Amino acid sequence: MMITIQVLQVPSVIPEVYWDLFLSSVSEERRAQASRFIHQADAYRSVLGEVLTRVTLSEITGIGADKLSFSRSIYGKPCLAQYPDRPFNVSHSGDWVALISGGTDELGVDVEKISPIDLQIAERFFSPQENTYLAAQPVDQQLNTFYRLWTLKESYIKAIGTGLSLPLDSFAILPSQWVQGQQVDDLCWRCTQTGHAELTGKLQQKGEQLSSDAEGDKYIRVMPHRFYSQPLDTKHMLAACTADGELPMRPEVVTLDQMYTKLVEDANAGR
Ligand code: COA
Ligand code: MG
Repeated sequence: MMITIQVLQVPSVIPEVYWDLFLSSVSEERRAQASRFIHQADAYRSVLGEVLTRVTLSEITGIGADKLSFSRSIYGKPCLAQYPDRPFNVSHSGDWVALISGGTDELGVDVEKISPIDLQIAERFFSPQENTYLAAQPVDQQLNTFYRLWTLKESYIKAIGTGLSLPLDSFAILPSQWVQGQQVDDLCWRCTQTGHAELTGKLQQKGEQLSSDAEGDKYIRVMPHRFYSQPLDTKHMLAACTADGELPMRPEVVTLDQMYTKLVEDANAGR
């Protein structure tokens, strides 16, 4: 099954009849959480993320959207209780909700609203190689590049599911053909993970191809993961990650009307 990335624009106001149906389709916990948010926009993003997930996974599995149930890993990554081998991942920020689904391998997605920030914080979060790459970009592109790297890193930790328990500077996501000081147009992103030498033997036993870094006390592992990275609009960056398989060339835009219609059809068909 093909991997798809779907995006949904969150409106500033959702008509009441739509909102009532959406709220009734999500879990009890989500409804309770939505009622506690101070800002309506937070409730919208949270609920629409789950509705988009349910509608899409319902199409994949044939189970009614409101009959699907979810469980979470110890790190909090949600999975489909009825079909744990049907991967998906959701993200919400600013005006957008994004969902990646399909295939059979681990998936991660991240959307972030681009807000002006002090780029110094990159030094705390990114690996030295990523910081070198960021600093080599033209000044007027550094903010966008920061968000590209941020969302790429986030999509990776969301795919592997460990959340922030994997130190953010222990891996680097960079264009595979990037050479310092050169501008590359068509970027293919690669993740390299750095670890300590004591793990090398274990990984080699599992058939991993490893190389040592210059200091010799660490291994460098080129991960098989593939990445997608594009701005969604001028104010939002989107990234996605899969452990294997082809990622789509562009996301599919889903509308509130489509989700509403699907939920009504499901209810009428008694699914
Ligand atoms: N792995 C994958 N997905 C997870 C997850 C995990 N361990 N834990 C939660 N999720 C899913 C959930 O579906 C969640 O949505 P929900 O809370 O509405 O159910 C969704 O991811 C949230 O993703 P997103 O909207 O992108 O939120 P986030 O970027 O604030 O947080 C985390 C993502 C929770 C997985 C985690 O990576 C985190 O706390 N990040 C903090 C941000 C940060 O410091 N990033 C550094 C990047 S350089
Ligand atoms: Mg995020």
